[in-house]
Amino acid sequence: MDIISPTFSEMGSPSIEMKKFPDGDSYVRIDNVSSLQGEEVHLYHRLYPEQDHQIFNVLLMLDTLKRVGARTTLVVPYLPYSRQDKTFKDGEALSAQVLCNLMSKAGAQKLVTIDCHFLKKEGEFEYGGLKIKNISANKLLIEHAKTLVDGDLEIISPDQGANYLVSDFGGKSMSKVRGDYQEGDEAYRTVEKVEGDFDVKDKNVLIIDDMISTGGTMIRAVENVKKGGAKKVLCAATHGFFLKNSYEKLKEITDGVFVTNSIPHEAAKVRIEKLLKE
Ligand code: R5P
Repeated sequence: MDIISPTFSEMGSPSIEMKKFPDGDSYVRIDNVSSLQGEEVHLYHRLYPEQDHQIFNVLLMLDTLKRVGARTTLVVPYLPYSRQDKTFKDGEALSAQVLCNLMSKAGAQKLVTIDCHFLKKEGEFEYGGLKIKNISANKLLIEHAKTLVDGDLEIISPDQGANYLVSDFGGKSMSKVRGDYQEGDEAYRTVEKVEGDFDVKDKNVLIIDDMISTGGTMIRAVENVKKGGAKKVLCAATHGFFLKNSYEKLKEITDGVFVTNSIPHEAAKVRIEKLLKE
């Protein structure tokens, strides 16, 4: 049985009501919940944008389903906090673990997600007390890229962590060096270098990553292959946040930018509904 939240209505007709109380507290109600007793349920919900609010909403949904005895597999296309699975400085929170733990305690028997940053490969895992199935959109993104160029395509990931996205397609990976946190209120570590000494002269290149957030990684990677004399440069990612005007910047310096619709955006040219249903 599919239970669909209004955040993910591409999966079907929503059967969850999500509102706010006058003070801003979340209100969640699932239609005909008592009929789900003992049922195996797939709960489809997006956790981004407004991740903290949507995380709390999903905890309410999971608990409501648990109270009637449903067995819930949670399907979220993008898992927020997935880059905080290890600490860089002493005393930092392990946010990815906290989130998985909360979802498991609230009633998720399993999480299905796409290109989860800390898993770095497809398959079945257990993390933070939660069973996770991680699937990749790499094949769909690469197929889309092939429709945009004539001839061969050189496939490159901008760092070693994203190597699993390209390795089955004869791809290569650049290496990335991040610096320390910048001054100020934003917890952001600068991208110091993205390098790879591949021969890209006169070749069509696709650079593919799990996510484009501020665009710092992708912009550096594009600059690198353009310096190497690449003919046509496309860039793609599973999850596109495109913060800090990075969509405009990437459009300016490449021949095409696209992502999946795991997060709604005008660059979302590759659809994930079928992948998730399968
Ligand atoms: C990190 O290793 C990820 O795979 C991405 O490369 C990174 O999160 C992208 O972030 P940004 O767009 O801010 O460079």
